[in-house]
Amino acid sequence: MTVPSTTTSPTTVPARTSGDAPGHGSTAWWRHAVIYQVYPRSFADGDGDGVGDLPGITSRLPYLRELGVDALWISPFYLSPMADAGYDVADYRAVDPVFGTMADADELLARAHELGLRVIIDLVPNHTSDEHAWFREALDAPAGSPARERYVFRDGTGPDGSLPPNNWRSVFGGAAWTRVTEPDGTPGQWYLHLFDSKQPDLNWRNPEVVEEFHDILRFWLDRGVDGFRVDVAHSLVKAEGLPDWEEKAVMAGGGDDESAHANLGPMWDQEEVHEIYRGWRQVLDSYNETGDPAHDRILCAEAWLPSVARTMRFVRPDEMHQAFNFHFLDTAWQAEDLRDVVTESLEEAAAVGAPTTWVLSNHDVVRHATRLGLPPGTRRPNGIAADDPQPNPVLGLRRARAATTLMLALPGSAYLYNGEELGLPDHTALPHDVRQDPAFFRTRGEETGRDGCRVPIPWVAGAPAYGFSEEERSWLPQPLVYGPLAADRQEGVAGSTLELYRTLLRLRREHGLGAGRLEWLEGHAPSVVAFRVHGAGGRPMTVLANLGADPLALPDGLEVLVASGRLEDGLVPQDTTVWLA
Ligand code: BGC
Repeated sequence: MTVPSTTTSPTTVPARTSGDAPGHGSTAWWRHAVIYQVYPRSFADGDGDGVGDLPGITSRLPYLRELGVDALWISPFYLSPMADAGYDVADYRAVDPVFGTMADADELLARAHELGLRVIIDLVPNHTSDEHAWFREALDAPAGSPARERYVFRDGTGPDGSLPPNNWRSVFGGAAWTRVTEPDGTPGQWYLHLFDSKQPDLNWRNPEVVEEFHDILRFWLDRGVDGFRVDVAHSLVKAEGLPDWEEKAVMAGGGDDESAHANLGPMWDQEEVHEIYRGWRQVLDSYNETGDPAHDRILCAEAWLPSVARTMRFVRPDEMHQAFNFHFLDTAWQAEDLRDVVTESLEEAAAVGAPTTWVLSNHDVVRHATRLGLPPGTRRPNGIAADDPQPNPVLGLRRARAATTLMLALPGSAYLYNGEELGLPDHTALPHDVRQDPAFFRTRGEETGRDGCRVPIPWVAGAPAYGFSEEERSWLPQPLVYGPLAADRQEGVAGSTLELYRTLLRLRREHGLGAGRLEWLEGHAPSVVAFRVHGAGGRPMTVLANLGADPLALPDGLEVLVASGRLEDGLVPQDTTVWLA
């Protein structure tokens, strides 16, 4: 049954997370929260159709509570033709039947809140689906009509308008423009799509679009969501006149394109975009009349930008609360680079009064257990195929555990991607005929795309689809290596990646590390990342990450609370991180 929004009584999160006792004092929850990304297609399948869904997520909430995270961010579950796995939204106020119903969404929210978990949903404002009512209306309406003004329609160039309005290329490959057939059957105008042709860009210079999204925010805030992860947050407004841009519109890096992250083309990060988020912030703040930080609802920007400073402009006091720190994700496994990115991130965040965030994996990048097993100097690829050089899985997992152990000690908020707590690698040998990422098709296979990091989660080693689904079905095939990594094989097993994450999250909470202050420790080899975090609770935590070949002696007088790998003769071996207090 679908519950209309007017009858919904939103739930709120009980005591545990208001100040995140015991360690986090009274700081706002989002300043230090650990937020777990659920990719709904791949997390847990409640109805046996091989695609994950909302009831599946609800059934696994106790697992997340046990893991020790503070919140979930759920990738889109709106009504969608799934041309980009749900990032093509046909109706922002409806749940796609593949994921369940609005009643399932309400149930998920209520259950999560009962368990003390906050829920952030994904909002996709840059584009709709071409199956959204607005776009259908635009296709039926003439050039220059109000319906077309909601999108970016332009006349073509060349004598008969048969060439696109400018030379922009889509992030997913190919042209960023598609020509429509007018209602009278003649070839007509072109519309802009920075992504797939089924994802037409909205015109954010149109006040109607601004108003509509305020309303969508309110729709979900009324249902009780705790915030929004904002998709491609830096792209909404394009430079006036849509000037040509010679480079590819790279966004999430990847591929061999050296310009990834250096891209500041006219489609990204225009000044006017910040005004939009100031408006959104006011909407969110209006849901917290008392100003109690426990009731803050938050915005987190997904904005791939060339510098930390540029990213931090999205989290100035009257804009968003958080922005993903992709600079950290893209840092090489080198001690000096890690020290630099941590220092820069903390400084730039402090300069605008925002918390730093940290992230190593998500649904758009090769998982860090795979990435860190690639030969040194390899640029992060957009997916790995069977005929590509394969990563070293043992080295990758070892480094991934060390990297996470380093990350979860850092002050600020951290994002985890579902399955990384099991040490999952990417599927690096998916057959091409099962691929779904539009980037694979639009680049004609030149880019492998992101399917490899989206493979369904293994829960039970001996069960069909490794317990992802009741039936032997999963929308992408799971590799055999997922069997031994299934959650049930790791639960309660000392030294497993799952138990490592649980321990890290418990200690992080107890010691209030997320709300702590970082102090670099001098006197170590250059290949050691050494710091102390003065947390909001308990003793300061000393963190040593040894990236060098020489084993590292432990300092006197401190006890090892957790280590990402086995210590050898009391020494910290290469690619291992320890926490001591
Ligand atoms: C999302 C991608 C999506 C793209 C277009 C990204 O930032 O994370 O998964 O393909 O936006 O919506």
